[in-house]
Amino acid sequence: MQQLSKLIDSNKDRFLDELFDLLRIASVSADKKFSAEVLQAANFVAEKLKSAGAEKVQLFETPGYPVVYGEKIIDASLPTILVYGHYDVQPADPYDLWTSPPFEPVVKNGNIYARGSADDKGQMYMHVKAFELMMSQNLVPCNVKFMIEGEEEIGSEHLESFVKANTQLLKSDVVLISDTSMIANEHPSITTGLRGLSYLEVEVTGPNRDLHSGVYGGAVANPINILCDMISKLHDENRKITIPGFYDSVQDVDASERAAMAQAPFSQQEYNDDLGMAKELGEAGFTTLERVSIRPTLDVNGIWGGYTGEGAKTVLPSKAYAKISMRLVPNQSYEQITQLFTDYFVQSAPEYVKVKVSPMHGGEAAVTPTDSVSYRAAAKAMETTFGKTPIPLRTGGSIPIVTMFERVLNTKSVLLGFGLDSDAIHSPNEHYGVWNYLKGIETIPYFYKYFTELSKG
Ligand code: BES
Ligand code: MN
Ligand code: MN
Repeated sequence: MQQLSKLIDSNKDRFLDELFDLLRIASVSADKKFSAEVLQAANFVAEKLKSAGAEKVQLFETPGYPVVYGEKIIDASLPTILVYGHYDVQPADPYDLWTSPPFEPVVKNGNIYARGSADDKGQMYMHVKAFELMMSQNLVPCNVKFMIEGEEEIGSEHLESFVKANTQLLKSDVVLISDTSMIANEHPSITTGLRGLSYLEVEVTGPNRDLHSGVYGGAVANPINILCDMISKLHDENRKITIPGFYDSVQDVDASERAAMAQAPFSQQEYNDDLGMAKELGEAGFTTLERVSIRPTLDVNGIWGGYTGEGAKTVLPSKAYAKISMRLVPNQSYEQITQLFTDYFVQSAPEYVKVKVSPMHGGEAAVTPTDSVSYRAAAKAMETTFGKTPIPLRTGGSIPIVTMFERVLNTKSVLLGFGLDSDAIHSPNEHYGVWNYLKGIETIPYFYKYFTELSKG
């Protein structure tokens, strides 16, 4: 295994160059303008898997973007790892807030700046390079399958039918995912929980057309004003969500897990300073780490309507819109919460507006056990390369396919992420540490090794 570390060092520049090539491809799945680039990224990953030594490499077409598949079967009696990742990225907007162009990767202060550097190209590509190294040294200890998708950032709409149609092909003992973060480079952690998600768009209509805000203003319901009223009523003074039934199925996290969370290194002052805010805000009765992991939330992600162009236009708009996300915790059903929101929002609308709610995507929360072979293998791998036992920690983000793999394949995932919360994923100036990238490549082969050993019992 030590020879791998040496090889990482001598191949470092090439590993970075290849990742840069991938990062230059603007594979934004949300925007049709970029569809050629999304396909180009799929082909890039397929080519690299092939040259690393994967077999049966192919693009599986879906009604959306293809799934890249590849495998190396060593021996049917050995355990099988299914590596999942995504080659699509979030839109890079707003472009003017980037200090360097989002699809022209550069290293600054030890970080790779580019859209997708941390989420998830950088983390996904660590697996391709780790596999290449293991292959080159004849050190692949078990079977491995790769499933790299291109629609994660838009809700993995077509992945479930792909998985259902290919359960035999995808049969495995664990799904290995690097698409999450750690607490700090000095304190590795393994993600043991993800929140669920319900994402929807609302439309509020007032008058049937835009009006002069002087001629009609004062006598007509302005849908933007009304939408703001309606949104402000979704939280009470304790920042609890007011939708009836919203918390009914939320499971309380037991005192011991909350006590363990309180031990995680965290400074509220540093957190506030980093975000440039005088004070934090969240649900009463919970700490910041709890608010972003074990509690459900409701946030407006975008709100628009009327005139937002340059200068001033006096207009009383006909329509107002908002995109709203609710992060869910274990036992909350995405469908049920979506329904509760819709019922409440429609019913709370005053008679002078019309309201439309359109669900977009979502999924259930996931918790992964810490007593499984895969968790122990991941912890041991991190221990080996970080020199420290990782802390199990739930995170606030969502990877809805984790519960889908449990449902359809009956396979649990291990969330071995190497990013940091400060990587600015989905934001301008997303970055990923060169150190983290190489640490991931170093750690992954140990996961293979320990998972294989521990599986034998
Ligand atoms: N990799 C993220 C999820 C994530 C980020 C988990 C950080 C933990 C820590 C993933 O690509 C993502 O962005 N998921 C979306 C949901 C998806 C359905 C669009 C999210 O969490 O907003
Ligand atoms: Mn991701
Ligand atoms: Mn993402």
